[in-house]
Amino acid sequence: MSIKYYAKISGTGMSVPEKVLTNFDLEKIVDTTDEWIRTRTGMSERHIASKNEAASDLAYNATLKAIEAANIRNKDIDMIIVATISGDHPFPSTACIIQQKLGLKGFPAFDVSAGCTGWIYASNIAKQYIENGVAENILVIGVEILTKITNWKDRGTCILFGDGAGATIISRAGERDISRFIDSELSADGTHYDLLIQQAGGSRIPASNESVGENLHTVYMEGNKIFKNAVRSMYHACDVVLKRNHLDVHSIDWLITHQANLRIIQALGKKLKIDDKKVIVNIEKYANTSSATIPMALDEAIRNGKIQHGDLVLLASFGAGLTSGSLLLRI
Ligand code: ACO
Repeated sequence: MSIKYYAKISGTGMSVPEKVLTNFDLEKIVDTTDEWIRTRTGMSERHIASKNEAASDLAYNATLKAIEAANIRNKDIDMIIVATISGDHPFPSTACIIQQKLGLKGFPAFDVSAGCTGWIYASNIAKQYIENGVAENILVIGVEILTKITNWKDRGTCILFGDGAGATIISRAGERDISRFIDSELSADGTHYDLLIQQAGGSRIPASNESVGENLHTVYMEGNKIFKNAVRSMYHACDVVLKRNHLDVHSIDWLITHQANLRIIQALGKKLKIDDKKVIVNIEKYANTSSATIPMALDEAIRNGKIQHGDLVLLASFGAGLTSGSLLLRI
C-alpha cells in the first residue's frame, strides 16, 4: 500500500477507578501472600471498579483527557475504535456508547477483540485509516474491567487483574512533523485459543444457571503456558519491526510492553538486549489491565516527562487468542 499520509499520536489520557485493592487485601480473599504476588508478578496493588462503574465510564474519562492533550474538539473525531474484552455489554460495541457520550454520530465506531493485544491491533487499524486518507482524528481506546469477570476463588488468576482505561487520539501528521507511526506487526496463533478464555456467555455455551454455577463466565487461564508464549511472541514482533526498519535495539529510546508480569517484561528486555532504564514499568500500581496497560503506561510516561517529543518508542503486547503484536513510533 502506498502511504499518502502519516499517522501520529496527538494526545493521550488514562483513567482508573478510585478503589484500590492491595496484595494484603487479597490475602483475605484467597490463599496467597503479598510476598508471593510481588515476587512472582511484580504487582502490589490494583484499581477495582465499583458496582456501578462500567468500561465506557472509565473510557470516557480517559477520552476527555486525550482530547484535551491533542488540542482538538469532540467534533474533530471521525472514527472510534475500542479494544476491549469486557465492554459494557456483549453488544452493542462500547465504541458506540462512547460516541453517544461524546455527543457525536455519523462515522464508524466499533470494538476490537484481541485480548491484551487489543490496543496494538486497534492502533494498527487506525494507522491504516489515517495513512489512506479516510480519517484524520481517530479515538483509540484500550479499556478493561476484568475484575467483573474474574473468578475470585482462583488464586492463580484473581490476583493478576486490575481495571483501567487508556485513550489515544491518532491523527494525521503534518508534512514536517517528526512524530509518526513507523511500523507495526500483528500476529495470532489460534491453535492456543483455549489457554485464555471466557468460556460461557457466547453462542457455544449460552448463559444458564449451570454456566454461572460452574464459574464459566469468568477468566480461565493456563498461566504457565501463556508465560512461555508471551516472551517468544513479543520478541518476534519486536525483532520483525526492528529488522524491517534497519534499526538496532540501541536506537530505541523506550520500550513499553504489556504489563502482565514483571518477570515477562524483564525476560523480554533481556532477550532484546535493551538497557533496563529504557523499559517502562508501572505494573506495581495497576496490575494487568489487559488492553489498557500500554496506553496507560504511555500516557503516564508522557505526562511525567519520561517520554519526550521526538523519542523513538517500541510497544509490544500479547494476549488472548493467542494474539501478539508490536508498534514502532516516534512521539
Ligand atoms: N498465591 C500463592 N501461591 C500461588 C498463587 C497465589 N496467588 N497462584 C498460584 N500459586 C501456586 C500454585 O498453586 C503452584 O503451587 P504448587 O507448586 O504447589 O502446584 C505454585 O504457586 C506455582 O504456580 P505456577 O502457576 O507455576 O506459578 P508461576 O510462577 O507460573 O506464576 C502466573 C503464575 C503469575 C500466573 C504466571 O504464570 C504468569 O504471569 N503467566 C502469564 C499470565 C498472563 O500473562 N496472561 C495473559 C494476559 S491476560 C489477558 O490477555 C486477559
